[in-house]
Amino acid sequence: MILTLEHIAMSFGRKEVLTDISFQLKAGSITGIVGENGSGKSVLMEIIVGARKAKNGTIYKNCSVGYCPQAAVLFPQLTIQEHFTYFSEAYGINKDLAKPQYQALLNHFNYKKYLNEKIIHLSGGTQQKLNLSIALLHKPELLILDEPYNGFDWDTYQRFWDYTNELREQGCAILIVTHLLSEKKRFDRIYELENGKLI
Ligand SMILES: Nc1ncnc2c1ncn2[C@@H]1O[C@H](COP(=O)(O)OP(=O)(O)OP(=O)(O)O)[C@@H](O)[C@H]1O
Ligand SMILES: [Mg+2]
Repeated sequence: MILTLEHIAMSFGRKEVLTDISFQLKAGSITGIVGENGSGKSVLMEIIVGARKAKNGTIYKNCSVGYCPQAAVLFPQLTIQEHFTYFSEAYGINKDLAKPQYQALLNHFNYKKYLNEKIIHLSGGTQQKLNLSIALLHKPELLILDEPYNGFDWDTYQRFWDYTNELREQGCAILIVTHLLSEKKRFDRIYELENGKLI
């Protein structure tokens, strides 16, 4: 197993958000998490990637992780190129190895022409392409994507699925928070988060 969660619980003050979450992700799978607004999907993703500490429970993971947060964490005054340089350093990837990877992402998601534009001048969808590309930059074994196609046009949305299907074939475990239940067949498994538990 790439990831195992056992009895994860989380609350903010007296508000219990997650009561008892247990599940596993195996290599080469795409898993969906659905649930109404405020049900705790993003909090759960933050706990999995280690950005937030659970109140109770255990997480076992022994792999590299890519995380695409629901709200992109980008620097408004930096260009796309500067983001790739910054995040390559942060992930500890050699510049020469990072370059072909981000060039492939720029081509695949069709936003190469904005490489030297500052983030504040980019459309929401283009910012989201960068948010997603940063999660993919170091070719992680576990991908945590929180509503990753928010704002994507139809072509980009299709390209998103082409890319993730290819990653699944290479053995990546992918966890996607989504509201698009019409896309059920794309997932190996879908969980619903309700009352702090997965169904
Ligand atoms: N830092 C915080 N302090 C207090 N409450 C918080 C904090 N972060 C999240 N919450 C609460 O936790 C609950 C779950 O929030 P979360 O963002 O995980 O929902 P979500 O399922 O991702 O919703 P959405 O579909 O709108 O993205 C909400 O009630 C939210 O108000
Ligand atoms: Mg959320």
